Amino acid sequence: MNSYRVEQAPQELISKFIFNAVVPRPIAWITTLSGEGVVNLAPFSFFNAVTTKPPLLMVSIGKRKSGELKDTARNVLDTGELVVNVVSEEFLKVMHLSGKDFPPTESEAEKLGVELEPSLVVKPPRVKGVPASMECVVEETLELGSTPMLVVVARVVAFHYREGLLSSQKGIVGRLGGKRYCVVCDELDLANLT
Ligand SMILES: Cc1cc2nc3c(=O)[nH]c(=O)nc-3n(C[C@H](O)[C@H](O)[C@H](O)COP(=O)(O)O)c2cc1C
Repeated sequence: MNSYRVEQAPQELISKFIFNAVVPRPIAWITTLSGEGVVNLAPFSFFNAVTTKPPLLMVSIGKRKSGELKDTARNVLDTGELVVNVVSEEFLKVMHLSGKDFPPTESEAEKLGVELEPSLVVKPPRVKGVPASMECVVEETLELGSTPMLVVVARVVAFHYREGLLSSQKGIVGRLGGKRYCVVCDELDLANLT
């Protein structure tokens, strides 16, 4: 077992440890709209649910190497709206590719041929065919860390899910360390364990 005090560990190791030990991470495949109306699509795995009443999610968005805001962060701050799409195995490769740097004037969805459909409440569209989507408005934002990261707390105002999702999550994708992913294939139900 390797043990470290954070103040004595190199930053590279700390980051690598967090990426590889906090796994699997759920993936928020986020659609937003720019001020010019361009649909942006990008994945984020520093993501989770925070509360259910009201339904609040959190996502942590870093800066680009240049120090600029990522398009998702800028759109969320400008418009206050986002849609979190849940990723299943059939979308794995295209979701991964949507994490590359695209200029803000280009829509990743259009470039990668991802089909979209209108949302119920918010302006950004949702991804068609995913197991679930959550339409959100920004509840609160805060900046944390030395880079810093923009932590967005988002309130779900409408949600969509495929038949069967509430009893099985098979096929949904999670993020591991590096560029590795996992897919839910074994579900161990302990409901009857006494
Ligand atoms: C599976 C996956 C998860 C990611 N998670 C995060 C994350 O939690 N935070 C972050 O800032 N970037 C994350 N990224 C990188 C962003 O997706 C990437 O910087 C993207 O270009 C941002 O796009 P945008 O400028 O259109 O918002 C992730 C990439 C992938 C492929």
